[in-house]
Amino acid sequence: MDESGVGISNRIIVFDTTLRDGEQSPGAALNVEEKVEIARVLEAMGVGVIEAGFPISSPGDFRAVQHISREIRNCTICGLTRARREDIEAAAEALKGAANPRIHTGLGVSDVHVRSKLRTTREGALEMGVNAVRLAKQYVDDVQYYAEDAGRADPLYLYQVLEAVITAGATVVNIPDTTGYTTPEEFGALIRGIMSNVPNIDRAVVSVHCHNDLGMATANTLAGVRNGARQVEVTVNGIGERAGNASLEEVVMALRTRKDVYPVEIDFDATRLYPVSRLVSSLTGIPVQPNKAIIGSNAFAHSSGIHQDGVLKERTTYEIINPREVGVPDSEIILSARSGRHGLRHRLAELGYHLDDAKFEKVYHRFLQVADKKKTVETRDLEAIVSDEAEKFFTETYHLEHVQISCGDHSIPTATVRIKGPDGEVHCDADHGTGPVDAIYRAINRVIGEPNELIEFSIEAITEGIDAVGRVTIRIQAADPVNGDGKSGGRTVFSGHGADNDIIVASAKAYMFALNRLIAARRESERAEGKPAPAGSASPAAAQSGSQA
Ligand code: KIV
Ligand code: ZN
Repeated sequence: MDESGVGISNRIIVFDTTLRDGEQSPGAALNVEEKVEIARVLEAMGVGVIEAGFPISSPGDFRAVQHISREIRNCTICGLTRARREDIEAAAEALKGAANPRIHTGLGVSDVHVRSKLRTTREGALEMGVNAVRLAKQYVDDVQYYAEDAGRADPLYLYQVLEAVITAGATVVNIPDTTGYTTPEEFGALIRGIMSNVPNIDRAVVSVHCHNDLGMATANTLAGVRNGARQVEVTVNGIGERAGNASLEEVVMALRTRKDVYPVEIDFDATRLYPVSRLVSSLTGIPVQPNKAIIGSNAFAHSSGIHQDGVLKERTTYEIINPREVGVPDSEIILSARSGRHGLRHRLAELGYHLDDAKFEKVYHRFLQVADKKKTVETRDLEAIVSDEAEKFFTETYHLEHVQISCGDHSIPTATVRIKGPDGEVHCDADHGTGPVDAIYRAINRVIGEPNELIEFSIEAITEGIDAVGRVTIRIQAADPVNGDGKSGGRTVFSGHGADNDIIVASAKAYMFALNRLIAARRESERAEGKPAPAGSASPAAAQSGSQA
């Protein structure tokens, strides 16, 4: 094999870990239906392996792996475990319904992991790893082994571990730069060393899993590919532990755009990169920075006159990727109230949204409200409306009907809300606060009475101009609905968002979104524990019929 990896299979497998490592981002908690929806889009894009969760870590993760295993038939579905019997058994159980199940087990290989975290010796850790692979093999044929913190390990020990786990039956060996410490030169050399020093490496696929602590996750992943790795572990928008993981969109587009440097094959529908990025951002509440490569809102914006002139004369003067290739919508197309249902449906389909009739009607209704206030509705307004109205993968227990607010520099901010409850009864209440948002949140709390703490609040204008639609994203923290009683001390974060021409109304919607999500999560865990559902609660399946293809 030469330095570019030629000599081994040149097909790249995309392993997406948005639902596992990505979901470990602080506050990114997703419910089962949201995970299934993301998995459907990943399957449609051509992802080869979906890491659906860490089944032993929580009942929610277990259920997510179980549901995704049943629903997604064209990808390998992978469940993470530690090198422990109970983890491996839980993963095997959760993966039972999968067409192509994979258990991903492993443990640390750096001295700090072996000695301080695992409190064992190199020999002891190697034996644990081999035993884990043997046990996993009793349940599934496809076993992936992760050598945690490989980036900081002694390569000679790493080679020994890899040889032993491949002999024990590992089909894929994952080389993580867990702490994002290595440079591309070092990481490339590590993979090259593995390719030439592990005698049975031809019996396994080498996978790379890079974190972004020094901003080098994508570069390291690509260096891995150049040196023989054939599986890339990535997340949508690069979300993940701490500074995140290598991002799906960056790795895929680097491989496609620079085939001259990376002579590999990758079957992938890149036109879904932008829609999946928006979906993940909206469901996790983690915004995409405007200057994010490939899918940021400025990634294809040319602001200087010289650049605009150049692009108008010839697009490739300043663009190395055609925005259409990654599904970035043509922002020139705007709609008005006169566009009608047909025009709206057509535009939504162009943007990748295929909604069932009920969801479409909700979106149409909101569209008319916005069009009435704004006259023209831009692509980004439409995306905000869809994410508010059609991407709710939980049952709304409380519905906000009206908000009324009075405030000013010489008055006490006071809010009145009208909310329809699960019993169909309408509740009206009012309260005052330090500002209009505080007053609204207090008034909502008087009706819903769900203890929580607001930990993050942000407002952005979605489009330009005084009549822009504003979007509010919030995070609230509450007693963990899975561990139940709050005595466990567990806290879960729920994000919520809301869009409206009036930012105070958007703030109220965002709070209602997060509260309803919290209530739905608690009901779901009660259902899983076999407790009867309270009156007025419906199945979450009822809320998930539309899909973003
Ligand atoms: O970063 C890491 O090492 C991981 C492993 C569990 C694969 O996420
Ligand atoms: Zn990781």
